[in-house]
Amino acid sequence: MIADDPVRMPPAALPAAFDSRLDVADPGDPVLVDHVKHQALLRAYQARYVVLPETAPSGGVLAGLDRHYDEERLQRLALIRPELEAQLILPLLPPAPETDVLGYIERLLPELQGVKSDPFLTAIEDHPRRAAHYRNFLVQSSADLLAEASASALGVIGEFGAPQSALFRILIDEFGYGTADRKHSVLYRATLCSFGLDDAYNHYWPLFDGPTLVLHNAIHWLFQTPRNIFRQIGFLLFAETAYQRSTLFHARFLARHFPDADARYFAEHAHIDLHHTRMVIDEVIAPMLQRFGPEIGAEIIQGAELTRAVFRQSGEGLTGLVGAFDAAGDADYDRIADSGGRLVSPASAGATGRVQVGAIGTVGALAFARFPANTVGRLLEAGA
Ligand SMILES: [Fe+2]
Ligand SMILES: [Fe+2]
Repeated sequence: MIADDPVRMPPAALPAAFDSRLDVADPGDPVLVDHVKHQALLRAYQARYVVLPETAPSGGVLAGLDRHYDEERLQRLALIRPELEAQLILPLLPPAPETDVLGYIERLLPELQGVKSDPFLTAIEDHPRRAAHYRNFLVQSSADLLAEASASALGVIGEFGAPQSALFRILIDEFGYGTADRKHSVLYRATLCSFGLDDAYNHYWPLFDGPTLVLHNAIHWLFQTPRNIFRQIGFLLFAETAYQRSTLFHARFLARHFPDADARYFAEHAHIDLHHTRMVIDEVIAPMLQRFGPEIGAEIIQGAELTRAVFRQSGEGLTGLVGAFDAAGDADYDRIADSGGRLVSPASAGATGRVQVGAIGTVGALAFARFPANTVGRLLEAGA
């Protein structure tokens, strides 16, 4: 099913922006097969955006541009997309028996705004290796945040009246009102850099784990499919509201434990997303309901509940790895390799060598075999 080509130039010469490689999964390992399918879907969505290298590649930029946006390559990715979405994303859609979206919002707002803590941050609050786990959180989140709001931009183009203009005003906030330094993705880059991480879009794709790809691909399925306009609005309703609290917890966590880190990304969201939630409800959902009636309510709720499910899965994945690393007994948190190593699951890691998991660190292959069955890692060569 792999539609993309392996790299045609040596990896070192390939700028992250144009790196479209996929792993090759052992067909007998369903965890890896699923993971590589998600990677292919990630590539299909990424191919819709303009991404350029940070600096001019030695052979010039045009050869990479030609290859990355080659029409045949784009067509292959577009061709496999519906099948991958049917297999990987549609089963995640929660049923939406309810259509009363205003009643749903009345319950959702106090629920999300009353959240008292973030389970992942709580799990690492007093952890001696909190820096390694937080580094992994930043790397996993970089899948989407380094191009933040590019997905939702695709839901704004077109023509659908006043609610469209409200969505556009949210979008230009996300893009810093046309000022690069205030663009949310640029603020996120500053946070990555303050942890010594690489801030190039797509740089860390080999370290993205299952929940990260599910979250990325669910969001991009929503917004890269115009049919999903009402589910997109549900995503915004949930995400803007949940983000008010989660970003506040991150800003406070960084102030407590990493006071030198650049936390502007989180502080900005804790403030501006209060407005974004109100805009989604008052300027998008309310007029849409007036115009189209209650039948759209079920789809808005469905989009919000899909968002809840993939956010939760991603948080639980991060938190689960804290416990799995604690239990490993031989964890090494001090070094991460950006790339290299064969993709493995606990079922296929074997008994020798060390396995790197996300950007946390490494554990021995035998310890990795006891990790949750759907974890992926990279088996590093001896001495690597
Ligand atoms: Fe944002
Ligand atoms: Fe926002």
